[in-house]
Amino acid sequence: MKDLGAKPSELEPIEIASRDEIEALQLERLKWSLSHAYKNVPMYKKRFDEAGVHPDDVKSLKDLVRFPFTLKDDLRDNYPFGLFAVPREKIIRIHASSGTTGKSTVVGYTRNDCDLFANMVARSLRASGVRPGEMVHNAYGYGLFTGGLGAHVGIERLGATVVPMGGGQTAKQVQLINDFKPQAITVTPSYVLNLLEEFQRQGLDPRNTSLQVGIFGAEPWTNAMRNEVEQAFDMHAVDIYGLSEIMGPGVANECVETKDGLHIWEDHFYPEIINSETGELVEDGEQGELVFTTLTKEGIPMIRYRTRDLTRLLPGTARSMRRMEKITGRSDDMIILRGVNVFPTQIEEQLMATDGLAPHFQIELYREGRMDAMRVSVEAEPNVTDTESRNAAGNALRDLIKTVVGVSTDVVVSEPGSVPRSQGKAVRVVDNRKGER
Ligand code: DLL
Repeated sequence: MKDLGAKPSELEPIEIASRDEIEALQLERLKWSLSHAYKNVPMYKKRFDEAGVHPDDVKSLKDLVRFPFTLKDDLRDNYPFGLFAVPREKIIRIHASSGTTGKSTVVGYTRNDCDLFANMVARSLRASGVRPGEMVHNAYGYGLFTGGLGAHVGIERLGATVVPMGGGQTAKQVQLINDFKPQAITVTPSYVLNLLEEFQRQGLDPRNTSLQVGIFGAEPWTNAMRNEVEQAFDMHAVDIYGLSEIMGPGVANECVETKDGLHIWEDHFYPEIINSETGELVEDGEQGELVFTTLTKEGIPMIRYRTRDLTRLLPGTARSMRRMEKITGRSDDMIILRGVNVFPTQIEEQLMATDGLAPHFQIELYREGRMDAMRVSVEAEPNVTDTESRNAAGNALRDLIKTVVGVSTDVVVSEPGSVPRSQGKAVRVVDNRKGER
């Protein structure tokens, strides 16, 4: 992998503060955030009153557990601006989720929130190994999605040069990377595979680009995919996490020197892990659903927001702030097939372990008689052209999925280019069971 060299960087004091210092700051900020929400958002006042809790009762971080959760539906029910905690005129930017499953969820940022956003993305980029004066090719989509503009402002805040490419126009992306010679790229892990193919299509070796590091997020991806991308581009690949409701990208980020999970910027976002069935808190180190409370956000304070993302909390390493393990998936993306829980990331892992297959895949769920069934569509590597080798690769993947993941699937190996390509977040599962029950 391209050598990052010794890239010295001044960390913010809080990134290496003691746990006591971090927790003292969190407590002070938590009290402010709870009382800001209580005083300015009718939904929170009502919920806290119903639960018999008051921000003034909070004496330690542990007391947060007595406060009620906030759900995505709460944002939908208060569409568009009902959860804003400041007058509408104080909001200087809006973002929104795509809203494929109903009304979109709208979030708003004050000037201070926008500053926080820029600072946290800048901190994330620094942790990824990007330095002021370098150039970053930003291929996250611009618009209502937080990825494009979020990365953009953070790149500028760091003092790096942003190339505001956005999603799509894959051939042009490759040309600009070749011509401008950026050190870093910000893009979804599924779209970078598209870029990879385009390099190959143009007869260019992606290992010869100027890129030293890729900062990938907005969707789940595995360590197996990390290896694949690092090898293909001869660059470091690190994970960036975030969600619109809490801010956008830059809630947590991996450090390039350790690549051992994502440090959560805990001075602004307080994490908890709960058992998603019972809602009870679980210990650090145990798997469960990630819950966030914003500590400093003004526009939309989020109190105990259930992300649906599954992970576990681990102690700090390269920074004092706690880490979260790479996300396994969202609880709503979990497929239950004949009683076995399956996440698309598990299929990705096995695909990466199978020779002769390209890293693109899509899962289809369908009905076979009265049973649910799963089909995994994959592609042969372009150099694997004979039917026998293709069938062998497909059978190998099917066997791996059966033995490692524990489910029987149909694996279809088709021509290179036949699995739909992502322009941003990949659609991993197509559910054709609906209406057939
Ligand atoms: O995806 C923000 C973002 C943009 C993060 C660019 C990183 C890079 P939303 O569109 O609101 O915001 O989607 C948030 O995406 O709850 C996760 O399910 C998923 N997600 C985001 N980052 C990761 C990641 C942006 N690194 C939802 N790994 C979250 C796994 C991720 N899933």
